[in-house]
Amino acid sequence: MTPDLMDAGTERMAKHREVEALGRTASGGRSAGYSRVATPGEVDVTHGRILYLDDVSVSFDGFKAINKLSLDIAPGELRCIIGPNGAGKTTMMDIITGKTRPDEGSVFFGSTIDLLRHREAEIAQMGIGRKFQKPTVFEHLSVFENLEIALKTDKGVLASMRFRLGSAQSDRLAEVLHTIGLDASVSRQAGNLSHGQKQWLEIGMLLMQDPKLLLLDEPVAGMTDEETARTAELFLTLKGKHSLMVVEHDMSFIRTISEIVTVLCDGAVLAQGTLDEVQADERVIEVYLGR
Ligand SMILES: Nc1ncnc2c1ncn2[C@@H]1O[C@H](COP(=O)(O)OP(=O)(O)OP(=O)(O)O)[C@@H](O)[C@H]1O
Ligand SMILES: [Mg+2]
Repeated sequence: MTPDLMDAGTERMAKHREVEALGRTASGGRSAGYSRVATPGEVDVTHGRILYLDDVSVSFDGFKAINKLSLDIAPGELRCIIGPNGAGKTTMMDIITGKTRPDEGSVFFGSTIDLLRHREAEIAQMGIGRKFQKPTVFEHLSVFENLEIALKTDKGVLASMRFRLGSAQSDRLAEVLHTIGLDASVSRQAGNLSHGQKQWLEIGMLLMQDPKLLLLDEPVAGMTDEETARTAELFLTLKGKHSLMVVEHDMSFIRTISEIVTVLCDGAVLAQGTLDEVQADERVIEVYLGR
């Protein structure tokens, strides 16, 4: 064992004792986040934060894409992130999901899970779902099969082949189908859906895993006005049950769904508040809205 790992282990044990001293259970609740495998039910949000970034920086060839970024999100919150091109919005999502490692800073899921100690696949399994801008559904499969396959992703090939939906999973699938408004399209081939429907299907695939936190990067780009309005309704339905971080440039969409809006610029938070508040902020007008 390397000294680094030993230190980490000692630290974990010390924390564990601390937690136990406070009279909390060893198997669940607050101490669970220290174990190797965390399931979505184990995220500790008792401090009122599902996600916490502190002083995070990352450079690409000397260019600081993220510069001392600090931000947190409450459980069940729908947080909108806006900001000019190149502000670091997508890079921030890359860091949260383990795709990019920051040079400095800390990133916590709940108050106990240090995301910088986990790989991308583990982070997804813990309950952080990510939606990229382009829909990535299986075009040759039906809507039903796409949702079904979303349950299998963390299993081996053999397990997937033997996989049959249990009744709880069938119920979940029906519920998700309804949530994303594709009940009537259940047998349609995904490749024949509209752009908006594909986006909803992909969100449905994420929902099959019942994520605690959903990161959505420009979800309404390329959608018709009607699809955008339905997506707003969908997100408002998801709020509360899940925490959402939504990056968008479409201000009327942001107006429909937003509570707190965070403005990113040059890799850091420039302003934060209601949309009216940030829209009235001179610095925000200068770098973004006044374009
Ligand atoms: N892997 C990388 N290698 C080099 N530079 C990168 C990498 N990822 C991002 N960048 C740079 O970091 C900056 C932030 O990019 P990012 O994609 O996070 O911006 P964004 O806020 O998502 O912008 P947009 O609104 O255009 O999507 C940009 O200047 C980008 O060129
Ligand atoms: Mg981006």
